[in-house]
Amino acid sequence: MTVDWDITTAEKGGYDHFMMKEIYEQPKAIRDTLGSRIKEETVDLTNEIGLNKEEINEIERIHFVACGTAYHAGLVGKYVIEDLARIPVECDVASEYRYRNPIITAKTLVIVVSQSGETADTLAALREAKRQGARVLAITNVVGSSVAREADDVMITWAGPEIAVASTKAYTSQLIAIYLLGAYFAQEKELKTAAEITTIISELKQLPEKVEEVLQQEETVKAFATSIAKHNNLFFLGRGLDNAVGLEGSLKLKELSYIHSEAYAAGELKHGTLALIEEGIPVIALATQPAIYDKMVSNVEEVKARGAHVLGLTTVGNNELEKTVDEVIYIPAVSDLLSPVITVIPLQLLAYYACLARGYDVDKPRNLAKSVTVE
Ligand code: G6P
Repeated sequence: MTVDWDITTAEKGGYDHFMMKEIYEQPKAIRDTLGSRIKEETVDLTNEIGLNKEEINEIERIHFVACGTAYHAGLVGKYVIEDLARIPVECDVASEYRYRNPIITAKTLVIVVSQSGETADTLAALREAKRQGARVLAITNVVGSSVAREADDVMITWAGPEIAVASTKAYTSQLIAIYLLGAYFAQEKELKTAAEITTIISELKQLPEKVEEVLQQEETVKAFATSIAKHNNLFFLGRGLDNAVGLEGSLKLKELSYIHSEAYAAGELKHGTLALIEEGIPVIALATQPAIYDKMVSNVEEVKARGAHVLGLTTVGNNELEKTVDEVIYIPAVSDLLSPVITVIPLQLLAYYACLARGYDVDKPRNLAKSVTVE
């Protein structure tokens, strides 16, 4: 008798590629990262964060420092922490941070985000921040990694091993760690009532289910991905958190499909980018933030008027967008701050299917490595 399988096929758990397996593992990764950190009514990070109430109150500024996809998680982190914990946040690419003379004091919390915990630039930035007296918190997926060993405090993202070069479940679990941290600071600083913290907790707990719902849109995303495969340029537009997610979607698409794409803050369009919009160019418009929804619609009208082919991404019930765009993907409604976890899923699928449509290697894009241990 012969058995028709090999170890790699088995490791992919029935999926054609590690990336797709990891995309589908996201509900579990989110559940695991939430794990024992949420109790019924409170967020409990006391085992991971050595700062007491008083020290948390004394934090004057936070710096997120990271590379690649982890940097994009930090960009979301800026919105989240400022909104929940009311502490000023900056977010830097690690390779820039250490050379720009940032203002670091003993009251600065530097948060390094790294899936592998071994990225050379991130590690160097961590060391520089420590040298200048900052407290360093690492958000990493690898227990015992260099970053985990050298940081003062560590939050592990329990995403499990990520094999595909393009990061997916590591990103969403980094976002979860950041939400937990923001909620924890808000709770300890008494900026939110117990009822508000309970609401955040219950919304976080619903995320895995919502991710499962949005994964059901796979066929719609696949059709759009196939239609963009012949193009060499594409734009992502969004405002606020949608822009932060657009940057991640754009990176994913570039690294896998080799289609050149750019993510713009939609309000910046008129300051230059609009010149690049021509007949037939694909544009992905992210419109999940109610406060700026109308502004997004008028930006979409601007690109439509110049012939762009627009895919809109918005929350269920926002049927108005259909009138302006060519195609729409509806994502389940969640609170505004949590939307990046949901919005990124169709963008991951888009990059995956655009890559397949162009015949490239999904799990091993050219010129890239999973972990970059050289500067
Ligand atoms: C490489 C990977 C990216 C990753 C980045 C940072 O470029 O290809 O997927 O986001 O490194 O890696 P880290 O392990 O520090 O998150």
